[in-house]
Amino acid sequence: MFKLLYFKKINSTNAKAEQIGSANTAIIAEEQTNGKGRFDRGWYSPKGGIYLSLLLDGVKAEDLPFLTFIAAISARKAIKLTTNLDTIIKWPNDLIFDKKKLCGILTKTILGRKKMAVIGIGINTNNNLNPRLKNKAISLNKILGKQADNKKIITTFLKVFEEYYKILKKKRYSKIISDWKKHSFLGCKIKVKTLDKTYHGTAFDIDCNCLLLIKDKNNKNIKIHEGDVTII
Ligand code: BTN
Repeated sequence: MFKLLYFKKINSTNAKAEQIGSANTAIIAEEQTNGKGRFDRGWYSPKGGIYLSLLLDGVKAEDLPFLTFIAAISARKAIKLTTNLDTIIKWPNDLIFDKKKLCGILTKTILGRKKMAVIGIGINTNNNLNPRLKNKAISLNKILGKQADNKKIITTFLKVFEEYYKILKKKRYSKIISDWKKHSFLGCKIKVKTLDKTYHGTAFDIDCNCLLLIKDKNNKNIKIHEGDVTII
């Protein structure tokens, strides 16, 4: 399904995807000089890691959170199938091991007639980690004690993603949510920083629109629409 485009070094695979604008393309770079993260943060992208963006068209607004969910499920499954490592998915789209971030996903829509979306996936595999994220990030080679096979992980990811994309096209939303939940952080004590407030509580469920439900210390249910989650 995806036409693959490889780059040794580019600013950002997400930016490249937007520039190319041709659907069903996967852009892969060995290194990014201006990797983008959520909340306008950068994404440290030295050689050795996986930096990949998918460009899709015909994306309905209501499918966007599900696209992010299937990207997280697929990245998790690709790591599990290729390395046998179990990671957990932290809402909305990070892969976590030992409370540290192994993979981040950034989804963006490009408005216009074709209703395009770019899904950018960054996985710390064999790269050095940002020294400023000490104790917050982790890489596969550190966990496994050996080099990870980036090519194998990317190929497996694309295969699994295609399967889940078909599931999404068939509108099997509950299957996506239930697969996401199977290996998720639900049950963990968390802190969520939203635009206007910080919440403390236990992550306990995901609703049918992919929103996070937490219980605060007074047992009150709170629905989280956006935010930065930390497992505590
Ligand atoms: C996050 O902040 O958790 C999301 C990080 C997403 C990083 C990836 S790396 C490939 C793609 N290109 C980018 O510039 N960003 C995404």
